[in-house]
Amino acid sequence: MSDGTDDEIRLVEPEPDIPAPALPGSVVARRTVDELHDAIAADLMVQALNCVREFGDFHLALSGGRTPFPLYELLMYDPRYRAIPWRRTHLWIVDERAVPFDSPDSNFGRIKEVIGDHSDIPPQQVHPMLAALPECADRYERELREALGWRPKGHDRLDFVLLGMGADGHTASLFPGSPALAAADRLAVDVPAPTTAKPAVPRCTLTLRTLNASRFVAAFVMGADKAPALARIAAGAAPSEVPAAGLRPAAGELRWYLDPAACGQA
Ligand code: 6PG
Repeated sequence: MSDGTDDEIRLVEPEPDIPAPALPGSVVARRTVDELHDAIAADLMVQALNCVREFGDFHLALSGGRTPFPLYELLMYDPRYRAIPWRRTHLWIVDERAVPFDSPDSNFGRIKEVIGDHSDIPPQQVHPMLAALPECADRYERELREALGWRPKGHDRLDFVLLGMGADGHTASLFPGSPALAAADRLAVDVPAPTTAKPAVPRCTLTLRTLNASRFVAAFVMGADKAPALARIAAGAAPSEVPAAGLRPAAGELRWYLDPAACGQA
């Protein structure tokens, strides 16, 4: 196993090219959605190649919502990202709604349609969250521990987590005021239907503990409705009020990818 120091592909420190809120971690603020997609796709590919070189596999957790789907499509068809090592990738879900996979509201159902079915990730490396079943979080926690357990201590964590953020500041399915925000001993939790986001159905979600243990946390946020929550994070809001303020990877990197509207420049 490499010590990850000699032949690692290094990321270039991003510079926002438009004025952006001063968020924890680094900020990639770009004028166009295509530039944002390219920045995330390139960061993902670099992380994936480095992880496969170091550990032999890559553990990727993806969010649903609306924002990331054009990016997921790009990852499938753009030849510049053909080197992403899908066969060595484990696909995890950041959060899931308690609906059948064939519902348009199922995060896994839609991610599977775009990525699961069009990449060559082996089926046993695809990890749906069964949010419609009881004890989803317990099952997912066990599955994560089993899949990551063989890695050296300290590296038994997700490698790349792609998050979104709602206008109320939620990320994953961690909503303002939710007791799930304080679940320090859990990797995943089952949560009741939110009152500030749709669809209003119970969900299962990774916890801040799991997100903050990850090697790379990518928060992809677009739209003017998200600007106030980002400004509150920059001003030091508490995670109980703006859950995405709780993103502080302990030994990993946090990077925000923002469009002008999210930066307050609509
Ligand atoms: C979910 C998501 C959630 C999402 C945000 C942003 O299942 O609801 O994982 O955390 O990322 O709500 O959603 P949009 O991209 O649709 O704004």
